[in-house]
Amino acid sequence: MAGIKTLGQFIIEKQLDFPYAKGELSRLLRDIGIASKIVNREVNKAGLVDILGDAGTTNIQGEGQKKLDVYANEQFIAALTSGGECCIVATEEEDDFVPIDSPVSKNAKYIVCIDPLDGSSNIDCNVAVGTIFSIYRRKSVEGMATLADVLQKGTEQVAAGYVIYGSSTMLVYTTGKGVNGFTLDPSIGEFCLSHPNMKIPADGIIYSINEGNYVHFPDGVKKYLKYAQVEDLETKRPYTSRYIGSMVADIHRNLIKGGIYIYPTTAASPNGKLRLLYECNPMAFIIEQAGGVASDGLNRILDIEPTELHQRTSIFIGSAKMVNMAEALMAEYSPVATIAKLNTNQKLEELGVIGGID
Ligand code: AHG
Ligand code: MN
Ligand code: MN
Repeated sequence: MAGIKTLGQFIIEKQLDFPYAKGELSRLLRDIGIASKIVNREVNKAGLVDILGDAGTTNIQGEGQKKLDVYANEQFIAALTSGGECCIVATEEEDDFVPIDSPVSKNAKYIVCIDPLDGSSNIDCNVAVGTIFSIYRRKSVEGMATLADVLQKGTEQVAAGYVIYGSSTMLVYTTGKGVNGFTLDPSIGEFCLSHPNMKIPADGIIYSINEGNYVHFPDGVKKYLKYAQVEDLETKRPYTSRYIGSMVADIHRNLIKGGIYIYPTTAASPNGKLRLLYECNPMAFIIEQAGGVASDGLNRILDIEPTELHQRTSIFIGSAKMVNMAEALMAEYSPVATIAKLNTNQKLEELGVIGGID
């Protein structure tokens, strides 16, 4: 009988895919795995100890921080500091990136960008939350790394992953050779390989968007929602609407079942709400590796050139067919001149739109 395979065993086995690897990335992934188990422990007992609620502080983006936001942020920075393989942690919860200024770490090869606790507004009501991380190789050769080392395009990611603290806790990650998922077995305290070689269905019937903001959506998104809600037996429409409000949980579900997640630009968030470095790039890398598509509505997320740490973007991510359709409607109805995807010649008819959209 084949036994279980733990995350640690799997990482070491996969290191052989990279002939010159010295084990630094493996150790970095291990450190992230350890920190996520600590966060998982606190999330699990959230109602029992005084860790629910607001921390009484705000982050640089003016968002109120939950106690667990602050706790998770501290745990990941601590694990990455003591691990010694990371020279900078850029986190959603800190104004500036955090250089790790120890003799070992300051020459370390890797940069980690992290959303320590995603969906934290759900924390007080027992709804799934997550952690999202992204790993880059630093560009500068030695000494203290700089902002330029952090501001790399998503295509430069060496690895990315997320942890979902849900009805069970899972860690899903990619190093650019497919996506693998591990479920935490609480009885042994180990993430065990449970979802090898994850693939997102090419098409789906679930759409996830905060529809309360409808009035502020770009016309292309309004047209897509109209398309999703029209009856058409052949394409299994009307689709099903599912929105948890934790990006990790919404995208994890869509990865397994097929679907599209959209956070477009809105009046309140004219550049989109979600952050390129901590949320969109890592999720885009994972979903592309699973065979899906991630776009800002007009262009590939991973090709966006970041200019600032806390940069935001709109995102359309998920099953290829669904995202392609949404992109085609964006190109048709919301082709913002400066970012228009001029090479989008996909005809709506080719994509199977047969009326029903005014
Ligand atoms: P975070 O908790 O890290 O700030 O992220 C919350 C994000 C994302 O997880 C979620 O999908 C989205 O914000 C929800 O936003 P709305 O409440 O505007 O729908
Ligand atoms: Mn988030
Ligand atoms: Mn967060």
